[in-house]
This record gives sequence, structure tokens and C-alpha cells, in this order.
Amino acid sequence: MSGQKKPWGGRFSEPTDKRVEEFTSSLHFDKRLYRYDIEGSIAHCRMLAAQGIISPEEAEKIISGLQDILQNMEKGEFSYSSDLEDIHMAIEKSLIDRIGEVGGKLHTARSRNDQISLDMRLYLRDEVKNILDLVADLQTSLVDVAKREIDTILPGYTHMRKAQPVLLAHYLLAWWEMLDRDMSRLRECGERINVMPLGSAALAGTGFPVNREYVAELLDFPKISGNSMDAVSDRDFVAEFIFDASLLMMHMSRFCEDLVIWSGEEFGFVDISDAFTTGSSIMPQKKNPDVAELIRGKTGRVYGDLMAILTVMKGLPMTYDRDLQEDKEPLFDAVDTVKACLAVLSDMTGNLKFNRSRMLESAAGGFSTATDVADYLVMKGIPFREAHGIVGRLVGYCIERQKDMKALDIEEIRLFWKDADADIYACMNVNGSVGARNITGGTAREAVLRRIEEIESRRIG
Ligand code: ARG
Repeated sequence: MSGQKKPWGGRFSEPTDKRVEEFTSSLHFDKRLYRYDIEGSIAHCRMLAAQGIISPEEAEKIISGLQDILQNMEKGEFSYSSDLEDIHMAIEKSLIDRIGEVGGKLHTARSRNDQISLDMRLYLRDEVKNILDLVADLQTSLVDVAKREIDTILPGYTHMRKAQPVLLAHYLLAWWEMLDRDMSRLRECGERINVMPLGSAALAGTGFPVNREYVAELLDFPKISGNSMDAVSDRDFVAEFIFDASLLMMHMSRFCEDLVIWSGEEFGFVDISDAFTTGSSIMPQKKNPDVAELIRGKTGRVYGDLMAILTVMKGLPMTYDRDLQEDKEPLFDAVDTVKACLAVLSDMTGNLKFNRSRMLESAAGGFSTATDVADYLVMKGIPFREAHGIVGRLVGYCIERQKDMKALDIEEIRLFWKDADADIYACMNVNGSVGARNITGGTAREAVLRRIEEIESRRIG
């Protein structure tokens, strides 16, 4: 042991190896929990006093000592001694240094096992709120751009091949929907985070006459844990959060992938503003979509965090095992990464400039309205399979002659369907194709505007 005696040092006769101290310490990363650790300790202390487990004077001393420490930490004036195991020990030791032995009473009826669970839950419930706000900002950016681009046509793709024309606004709102599911997942996860574990102590609960409901009330928890063994073992909420973060990252990554492709020379559908791109150190002409690429790349990193927590948890015996200390770095990394990506993507999205004429021109090509022509034949009484065949042959004929379908004269069309009328040309038009899909969830302007209205009324309500 380097220098001082450990708080748990009673049964030890030999000091801890310096390397073991370094190896086991989590202080360098769990110090970010300090605010929550102190908040939890203050509530615990108030409860101890209210229950007569410690005296009101003792509680007062402890609480003002903790508030002192908090102030020091907020100002960056706290010196974290490297031989302390974790944030709980750092705070407890400093408390005893400041107020004397009475500081040692704070840990009555508590273990670091239920304490760390509490800290993690307090921390994560705050961060979930922050992340929900950031997701809402990204959704707002998408809706704003959708409104601005309500008349812009985009070729829609399947298999990365031109499929059917859609409204750009419809495309943008597809991301809104994905983010909406992310929000609901995160909110639900928030409910499972929001459970107060103190009172579970090391694993068996405490014999002191604590009042868990009072602690929950002080810390604004709607629920307390129902089993002390589960409470100190459980990190489901961490794994669940990182899973939710992974899906959210996956959605951002897919959007970014489209932006990378569309902003390239071959597509030229969108210009990512200079503020969100970077240049090449060798090729002067380059403007690279690095932000979008990094969001795509960081998605892999958050998946890694998910694999890490799942693997740490796998096969852990009941109850608390020190392995659980390895929950923090993946969690912190996932939180930091997802927040950084959301913030930068919101701003980048708001600044996108779409090349409307280029997209329209592209949407009109590639026989993107072939399905509309088939649908038109169906309306004339032809079974869909047969209509599909007729239009397929028509497309083949056009490809052979390097002609657009609209450029065929009616006699040519009649080679494939003898009853063809001039009104067949109307359904080859992209605007008509888009406008026809006026059903809930469809891409017609009216349908998209209805969805925007629903979204906006929900946001206010
Ligand atoms: N630093 C520990 C963790 O993060 C706190 C709990 C330690 N408990 C123990 N019995 N060693 O999980």
C-alpha cells in the first residue's frame, strides 16, 4: 500500500502492491460520477438522520463536508490521489480528512455495491434526458428541411438502383420516424434506469432500520428495487441503453452514408456546407464529407461498447463481481459518442443544400415510372402480372433503341398493348407518380404535409 491505510484495510497485514492499486483503480474514469455520488450520499445521510441512525448534528456535519467537496470538485480544485480505488473512496476519504471521524458514519447501512448502482442510474437518467433533447433537435432539423423541400423530387432507390420517384421531404421524414422509435426506446429504458437501489447494501440488504422510500423520494425515483441481490448484480439498464444508442447510431450512420454518396461528383444531389467538410492535404480540389464518414465510423465504436458490456456480463455469478467496474468506460464512451454525433449531425442537416434540378432529372430517368404505367394498365382491367410483363417488354424495347418511354409514339406502344391511348403518357410523369400516392404514409405532397402536421401538433402537445 502506498502510504496510507485502506478503508477496508483491517484484515490485511501486507500493503497493496502499487501495480495492483493502479490496476484496480477506476478513479481516473469514474470521477465523472462525482456529482451523483455526492447527491446520493446527501440523500442517504438525510435518511440516516431521519431514522435516528445518526444524529442530526452528525448529519449536518457530513452534509456540509460533502457540499464543500462538491464545490472543490466543480471548480476543479479537488486533488484526486492516485492510490484511491474509486470515486466513492476519494470522496469518503476527503470527507473524513475535512470533518474528522464522524465522516466515517456516512457509509452506515450502505455498500459501494449499491452505491455504484445508484450513481450509474443517476448519471444515466440525466444523460438519457440530454440525449432525448439532442434527438429532438435532429428531428426538428429534418422537419425544417422537409418543409423547405416540400416540392423537391428525389429518385427513390432499392438495391441502390433507381426505383420510384419520391418527395425529398418524404425521404427526410423517414429518418424522423426512425428517430421517433429511438426516442421511445430511450424513454422506456429511462423507466428501467429510474429505480432506486440503496438499501441493498453489499447483496443481502441492510439490518439498519433504513427508509428506502424516503431516499427514493429525496432523489426523485418513482420506484425502488425489489431484490437486493438483483439490485447489486444488475447492469441490464447499461446494456439496454447502449443497445438503444447503437440503433440510434445505426440510423445516423445510414443517413450519413446517403449523404456521402449523394454529395459525390457522380450523384451531385446535395452539397454539404464547407463548415462541415474538410479538405485534402495533397489534392487541392477535394472537399471531403469527413463528418458524415466519422459518424458512420463511430457507429462501429458504439457497437463495440455494446459487445463489451454484454461480454462483461456474460456468465457473471450472482451477485456483485468486480468485473462490473468494466461497465463504465463503454457506457461513458457510448454516451459521449452518441451526443457528439447527434449535435454535429443536426447542424449539418440544417445546412444541406440540395440540387433540385439534378435530382428531378435523375428521378425522371431510369424508367422510374414503369410501375405507374403497369398500374395504369391494371386500372384498364389488365391483371397486374400481365401488366408487369407488358411494361417490362416496353422497357426492353426502349433500352434497345436507347429511348425514353415518353419519347415512344403511340403506335410503338400499341405493339405491346393494342388498346393504348394517349392518356397513357400522363402516368409516365414523375409528379403524377408521386402525387398518386396520397395514402397515409405515402409520398404525395398532401400525405407528407399531413404527416408534418401530425408531427408538429404532437411536438407541441
Ligand atoms: N469501483 C467499483 C465499481 O465500479 C465500485 C464498487 C466496488 N465494490 C467492491 N466491493 N469492490 O464497480
